[in-house]
Amino acid sequence: MKSVKKKSLKKIKMSDYSDYEDDFIDEEHNSSINKIKEEVTNHQKDLNFLLNKIKLRDNEILNLKTDLSNYNDKLKNKNKIIYNLQDKIKSIELNESKSSLKTNKVSLSIIEKDHTVIKKKKSQNNWSEHNTLWSPHEIEYNDLELKDIVSGGGFCVMYRGLYLKYINVAIKRIFDPKLTDKLKEEFYNEVRILSLLRHQNIVQLIGAVFKPPSLCIVTEYMKRGSLFHVLHQSNITLDLNRKLKITKDITNGLYFIHYQQIIHRDIKSYNVLVDEYLNCKICDFGMALFIKNIQNENSKHLELYSGTPQYMAMELLDQSGIPSYKSDIYAYGILLWEIWSRNVPYDGLDISMIKKKVLEKNQLVDLDLLDKNTPNIIKNIIKKSITKNIDQRISIYDIIPEIMTL
Ligand SMILES: Nc1ncnc2c1ncn2[C@@H]1O[C@H](COP(=O)(O)OP(=O)(O)OP(=O)(O)O)[C@@H](O)[C@H]1O
Ligand SMILES: [Mg+2]
Repeated sequence: MKSVKKKSLKKIKMSDYSDYEDDFIDEEHNSSINKIKEEVTNHQKDLNFLLNKIKLRDNEILNLKTDLSNYNDKLKNKNKIIYNLQDKIKSIELNESKSSLKTNKVSLSIIEKDHTVIKKKKSQNNWSEHNTLWSPHEIEYNDLELKDIVSGGGFCVMYRGLYLKYINVAIKRIFDPKLTDKLKEEFYNEVRILSLLRHQNIVQLIGAVFKPPSLCIVTEYMKRGSLFHVLHQSNITLDLNRKLKITKDITNGLYFIHYQQIIHRDIKSYNVLVDEYLNCKICDFGMALFIKNIQNENSKHLELYSGTPQYMAMELLDQSGIPSYKSDIYAYGILLWEIWSRNVPYDGLDISMIKKKVLEKNQLVDLDLLDKNTPNIIKNIIKKSITKNIDQRISIYDIIPEIMTL
């Protein structure tokens, strides 16, 4: 047996040493191998754990990828739907604009057919060639809200209403279901003339509905209604200044109408509108005509002798003449008498009685009924407006400077 002690005292031989060494190394080696093994198994465990984790992540990524591709597919479908819808909208808009072009064409052709005189006038004048006389704003019937009926008669009903929800307007709606060519012609005539006449004493056109069956003329709303109502059906005090203001407003409006070479043909208190501040504006251009169209040979088809008998000049009542600036002045004279006397002209008389009184008896409106404070200038204008002799009847160009000095 070899003792360790001995070995330590003696010089150890290489062979001895190696034996001893071998044993020692074996032991150490084993333990370190074990340790390493242990470590390796631990690392393997960790590695497995990590591998599992990676697998899980991979699965998650795979799931996300499939989700993403599904989402992309859906997005493609949605885009397709959007493109299709956009195409449909475009084709609808195109059809609509085509059809509105058609209606505008129809309305324009009707107007141009009957107003060759205006065309001539336009071609002589460079300015008007570039500025169409007839350019009213087209209103969609659905943008109007009809509230209460203001007046109704003939083929039209006048409503108070709203345009685009908030704008107060008066709506003249032509309700005849048959809508004859004559009625359409009157409608276009009124729209065209109103769109030309922009003046503070002429009711302002806002626009018109051109698509039958609901033809409408839309104007600013005048709160107090007609001057007839203010004069005879209300108890508004009308002192000298107020009457003067009303007279000036009407004179100014008529001055502008005649200056535009138009005759109104139905001047009367029903066709003068009054706003909340008692400003007056002339309305109802349904019968208005360009003077040249009346003198024209084609005027035979026009109903030259329609009007309101109380305001019709003698030459129209007996059909010896034709409507003119002077027949408008006659009606204006009767209207001034109505304002300054606050009486209804020929009240309660029918057309045959009026004809008898005016044509046979020469009994016109009674000037003694005028207010005591009526200015002489006004009295004289009334007299000179209703004379039988057309040449002696004054014109608006004589009247306006005198009225404006008052
Ligand atoms: N802009 C308006 N604001 C308020 N009221 C109005 C307006 N326009 C017209 N009216 C009322 O409606 C009535 C009829 O209007 P208008 O004269 O334009 O139509 P019409 O169909 O030609 O009528 P009529 O045949 O009775 O002369 C007027 O007398 C007035 O009372
Ligand atoms: Mg009227």
